[in-house]
Amino acid sequence: MATGASWMKYGLWKKADMNLAIIGGTGALNLFEVAEQRTLSTHYGEPSAPLVRIRLGDKPAWFLARHGQPHRIPPHRVNYRANIQALHDLGVDSVVAINAVGGIDPDLAPGALVVPDQLVDYTWGRVHSFSDDANDPLEHIEFGQPYSHAIRRALLDAAAAAKVPVKDGGCYAVTQGPRLETEAEIRRLGADGCTLVGMTAMPEAALARERAIDYGMLCVVANPAAGVSDDPISIDEIHAVLDQAMSKVARVLMSMKA
Ligand code: HPA
Repeated sequence: MATGASWMKYGLWKKADMNLAIIGGTGALNLFEVAEQRTLSTHYGEPSAPLVRIRLGDKPAWFLARHGQPHRIPPHRVNYRANIQALHDLGVDSVVAINAVGGIDPDLAPGALVVPDQLVDYTWGRVHSFSDDANDPLEHIEFGQPYSHAIRRALLDAAAAAKVPVKDGGCYAVTQGPRLETEAEIRRLGADGCTLVGMTAMPEAALARERAIDYGMLCVVANPAAGVSDDPISIDEIHAVLDQAMSKVARVLMSMKA
């Protein structure tokens, strides 16, 4: 049985008032009314972009463009530690990450939204922990449930309120990128139990846990993963699907009781 402190730490209960940040792709920034912008530097270097103060409905939140503004940083080169540290320095305690994914589960059509509940990390060579240096305190975080229950619940409730269909649950395979996967790789990920594939959930989710930030994810299915459909994947089509789906993402976020 978890203690009171760990219930709080792993987001098993809902805070009365979140200090929320959205981490998303550059396209998502145009969805929000921008109130203020801050250029921050951290012990771990520069975050991907200035931190932008936005309004989500009648609540303020922060927005960070994971791939930079303009979009230029590939998934394996994102300074995930600087991004999470900058949010932590701003007092952020809750993050909703927006991630484009390929659908391994054939039922996930392009444009579908998913709130995953698990992940498998296949990335390599990324700086993946704040416990990286002999001078840093060594922390072994608990990560059995990688996504915050409170943020998942808030996203699912918001989607229901906004009448946006969202799939509850999914296992996100985190690949290294920036190339897409081979058909054999996707067959292997599916055999491992993964239903979605993307390149950015890790180490972001684990670093957020290390900083005791509640972290949840809203995934946008951009394409059937390699070999799932007979048609080859078109990058132009991926962008067109994402552009269209962003209005649904915005409706969910605006309905969040942050
Ligand atoms: N694979 C990995 N990442 C992705 C994909 C994919 O098929 N589509 C969008 N992001």
